[in-house]
Amino acid sequence: MKNLIDVKNLRVSYHTYAGEVQSVRGVTFSVQEGETLAIVGESGCGKSVTAKTIMGLIATPPGEIKEGSEVVLDGKDILKQTEKEWEAYRGATCSMIFQDALTSLNPTMNVEKQIMENIRNHYPVSKEEARKETLHMLELVGIPDPQACMKKYPHQLSGGMRQRVMIAIALAGKPKVLIADEPTTALDVTIQAQIIDLMKELQKKLGTTIILITHDLGVVANIADHIVVMYSGKIMEKGDVRQIFYGHKHPYTWALLKAAPNLELSNKQPLISIEGTPPDLIDPPKGCPFAARCKYCMNICTTEAPEEYEFEPGHTAACWQYHPESGYADIDFSREGE
Ligand SMILES: Nc1ncnc2c1ncn2[C@@H]1O[C@H](COP(=O)(O)OP(=O)(O)OP(=O)(O)O)[C@@H](O)[C@H]1O
Ligand SMILES: [Mg+2]
Repeated sequence: MKNLIDVKNLRVSYHTYAGEVQSVRGVTFSVQEGETLAIVGESGCGKSVTAKTIMGLIATPPGEIKEGSEVVLDGKDILKQTEKEWEAYRGATCSMIFQDALTSLNPTMNVEKQIMENIRNHYPVSKEEARKETLHMLELVGIPDPQACMKKYPHQLSGGMRQRVMIAIALAGKPKVLIADEPTTALDVTIQAQIIDLMKELQKKLGTTIILITHDLGVVANIADHIVVMYSGKIMEKGDVRQIFYGHKHPYTWALLKAAPNLELSNKQPLISIEGTPPDLIDPPKGCPFAARCKYCMNICTTEAPEEYEFEPGHTAACWQYHPESGYADIDFSREGE
């Protein structure tokens, strides 16, 4: 499969009264065409800022995308787009759905108008054609009575229905890429599962490439092809689902998996919470950001940022313990917690 998106050395900061918050600190990853890539990591590690950058939603100032950052989509560095190009891009090339559909939908417009607007913003179709397409989109996302739903306002819909409408709006412009930022966090578990199934089904039908951001590793196990594990504005480990769940190399990935309550693989052992808190991004540590919380921490970890080591094609971890001179190179995580 070919890469649709290449994010290269992305660095994004926010200038605040307290100082420069270095939200994303040199992130490099690729997304293949038609796949689902999941970005996981604790709160505040830079997942949403990365997503917003790809969607062209970083307000500058206070945000700043640092010199040398690149996001190449279909061969074009989108960070160099003009505002006019961004407008055409949003919705038609890349769409985003957010955690809270109620605040993201327009409360003053009915569903029909919101979807039609997105279609007509990108395609020169008549009102009648747009209305037909709207009905089709609502059917596609599994709304039971699409005709009636068209006339409803967001507050008249249940949480699950609102999220389906958001997906319909996002997909109405036929984007190549759908970014879903915590799309199921606000929903109860049954509805969560339905929304994830829906996203999988739509991806099959439409071939959409999905970037899924979530705290929930259970969701990731069900839907993702590749996983990027972020911490403190950096990538700790990346690989395919099998490599991350069953062959992880980074102590942070291990800690994250052990702290996930709904994973089969953690049932055998007690849940272990990750002690401590992530570092301050205004003054991040020089070495590995996880060093202060890592039980394998060596001297070098606190003074120098680790190199990235590749274990299999596409599977890398940034951790000094895989340096040939480290004695820990073959840590057996499966024996942890015994
Ligand atoms: N508009 C902003 N102004 C200042 N700092 C910001 C802004 N947006 C994000 N940040 C900071 O950037 C860092 C990364 O934030 P981001 O929203 O990407 O985290 P996240 O990984 O999406 O977390 P969560 O899981 O809680 O959504 C955080 O320290 C956050 O406080
Ligand atoms: Mg976020």
